[in-house]
Amino acid sequence: MSDEPLVLGIETSCDETGVGIVRGQTLLVDTVASSVDEHARFGGVVPEVASRAHLEAMVPTIERACRDAGVQLRDLDAISVTSGPGLAGALLVGVASAKALALALGKPLYGVNHLASHVAVDIVEHGPLPEPTMAMLVSGGHSSLLLVPDVTNDVRSLGSTMDDAAGEAFDKVARVLGLPFPGGPHVDRAARDGNRIAIDFPRGLTTGRDMERHRFDFSFSGLKTAVARWVETRHRAGESVPVADVAASFQEAVVDVLTRKALLACKEHDVDHLLIGGGVAANSRLRALAEERCAKAGVTLRVPRPGLCTDNGAMVAALGAQMVSKGRAPSDLGLPTDSSMPVTLVQA
Ligand code: KG4
Ligand code: ZN
Repeated sequence: MSDEPLVLGIETSCDETGVGIVRGQTLLVDTVASSVDEHARFGGVVPEVASRAHLEAMVPTIERACRDAGVQLRDLDAISVTSGPGLAGALLVGVASAKALALALGKPLYGVNHLASHVAVDIVEHGPLPEPTMAMLVSGGHSSLLLVPDVTNDVRSLGSTMDDAAGEAFDKVARVLGLPFPGGPHVDRAARDGNRIAIDFPRGLTTGRDMERHRFDFSFSGLKTAVARWVETRHRAGESVPVADVAASFQEAVVDVLTRKALLACKEHDVDHLLIGGGVAANSRLRALAEERCAKAGVTLRVPRPGLCTDNGAMVAALGAQMVSKGRAPSDLGLPTDSSMPVTLVQA
């Protein structure tokens, strides 16, 4: 038997029912049931649809995870669960399930922060996290720059989006271009055939006083509006829209700002490791530009594989295992959900 803690993690903050099992720093299984197809026709995640899908998927997903990992529930050392931030009803399904498991099995329960979990997951992919690590989380729900001295209890927010999250901007621009939801992968694909300097779209919060006041914050709503106006002007003039060029130029504006601010944060805080997580970390141009700029700055880039960048249970199990290993006290069984849990609160 191993001394390393065996932890089952549950993630239900948005539309993915994720159950992962980790032993110490080793991922045993990552099982995800997604309701994304049920939301596609609405062009965005419908909270009530997501909650019901979690309810239906929860028990089969836990059973499948245990079966695939060859793990008996009684062998677990702890249960961890996303207690926030996220959709209130969706979180409730995960937290109630985790409490039921913890109570029935007599195991400790850890209610953890979704964003810290996005950072911790890279431990099962690339080993222990350097302390401190700079982390940039970019997804449909969040865009944050975090200084992480210790992922189990010290996560500091340097900045975040003032309006749309990066993935949200991708999804909205995709809609303007007539591409399906979720739009990020479609924009990424369309952009491959486009010219990224064809259109000079705005880079929000990067100049003058904006940059002074919002050094590490992001804003993508002006960019999204600029793209919509540009496309509309072409439509009005009866001209066709060069989808590949618009996609490539929009994408360049997003990833230019993201990588510029992330590397500035590394420089100013004297951190030599940058971790990028969240669904948008799957973006091919973001990965390429981040690699290029990190290499130039002498910063080591860590990006988990795409399946671990999007929402999953492994990330929650990975953080739970760190909590146990570092001897952190478990959460109370009365643990509430917190849909707007601040990123600085690692554990509820
Ligand atoms: O982390 P995630 O699965 O869910 C949360 O929002 O928490 O991220 C989903 C977001 C969507 O907005 C999707 O369009 C975006 O990530 N995304 C991408 C790519 N793949 C997924 N954005 C840009 N390029 C991609 N290749
Ligand atoms: Zn997420």
